[in-house]
Amino acid sequence: MPATDTVRIPLPDHRDYEIRIGAGLLDEPGSWQGLPRAGAAVVVSNETVAPLYAQRLRERLLAAYPRVDLVVLPDGERHKDWASLNRICDHLLAEALDRRTVLFALGGGVIGDMTGFAAAIYMRGVPFVQVPTTLLAQVDSSVGGKTAINHPLGKNMLGAFYQPVRVIADLDTLDTLPQRELCAGLAEVIKYGPIADAGFLDWIEAHLDALLARDKAALAHAVRRSCEIKAAVVGQDEREQGLRAILNFGHTIGHAIEAGLGYGEWLHGEAVGCGMVLAADLSRRLGLVPEGFVERLRALVARAGLPVVPPRLGAERYLQLMRVDKKAESGAIRFVLIESPGRAGLHAVPDALIAETLAAHGAA
Ligand code: NAD
Ligand code: GLY
Repeated sequence: MPATDTVRIPLPDHRDYEIRIGAGLLDEPGSWQGLPRAGAAVVVSNETVAPLYAQRLRERLLAAYPRVDLVVLPDGERHKDWASLNRICDHLLAEALDRRTVLFALGGGVIGDMTGFAAAIYMRGVPFVQVPTTLLAQVDSSVGGKTAINHPLGKNMLGAFYQPVRVIADLDTLDTLPQRELCAGLAEVIKYGPIADAGFLDWIEAHLDALLARDKAALAHAVRRSCEIKAAVVGQDEREQGLRAILNFGHTIGHAIEAGLGYGEWLHGEAVGCGMVLAADLSRRLGLVPEGFVERLRALVARAGLPVVPPRLGAERYLQLMRVDKKAESGAIRFVLIESPGRAGLHAVPDALIAETLAAHGAA
């Protein structure tokens, strides 16, 4: 069994925090020691994850907090909205919980993003802890402080930068994750190779079968290396003034797929996987990477069980959706493109070239 790994997110103003990664961390008393003291803790989860893990977490937290409440939300990306956010706030207000109350986000990225947003706005900010239970959440969404809900007109359009005080990534929780969700998480793992670490890309190619078979040592390495890369990026550019945008490789088209099909039709990771293939192809069309690199990435994404052919929404619809992307500037759509394996940058891309790429992949 691999030992616990700790990755630190370096942030100013004493806001730096630890990501602890390992098997069995949910039941490890140390995971829950040294957190902000409060009269109450509130575990926020959903109807799928709560029956699996909420009781165990509550029992551990009762050693540290006199009162531990549970808020259970409906499951799914389509519930990442005002109604669910309100349910968290309704509970906090109805129970008159004070500004020391600590929230615990127990679930995947949807629960993590919404709980973080609730923590950011309740009484102008209460502490929260991320307890990610999907691979995607362990390698990406629980780390770095982006919190949000969706709007029908755009993904993650309403939110705040608000950092957790700790992240506890228990690899054992991945045992119950459906295979499709594991594959979706692999998209965000793969992402870190092309944007930041060509050696990690080689490692993922070599260990993909082990990851798909949920080998704990392979998962531990994938989660740790992903978090290290994300920590380094967030530590330099917490609020995405520049560098942090590279973490959105594959997300411009990915978000358009999610919003265009209706949230939840394709999983976030599936949309990102396919978006990375198209963004790599755009990079090739701009002369940044050779065809061989695009094929390499396409093959890896496909091997990870992810779709590589985008839905046929039509070029106009894609362009309309991508204009509300947060990276767009004065109407110009900007993409994270691969400049060489392991290095990425933000580039404005003409609509005509985007339309050409979409058509070449059957999306138009
Ligand atoms: P998710 O939260 O919807 O979880 C996927 C599914 O797995 C859900 O049905 C959930 O109930 C279930 N589940 C979770 N843990 C489980 C477990 N251990 N066993 C069994 N079932 C389990 O999806 P996700 O892929 O974790 O997260 C996607 C979301 O994360 C998107 O909304 C995306 O926008 C967001 N995201 C945010 C960031 C960020 O930086 N904040 C980064 C990437 C993605
Ligand atoms: N997932 C993109 C980011 O955290 O910036």
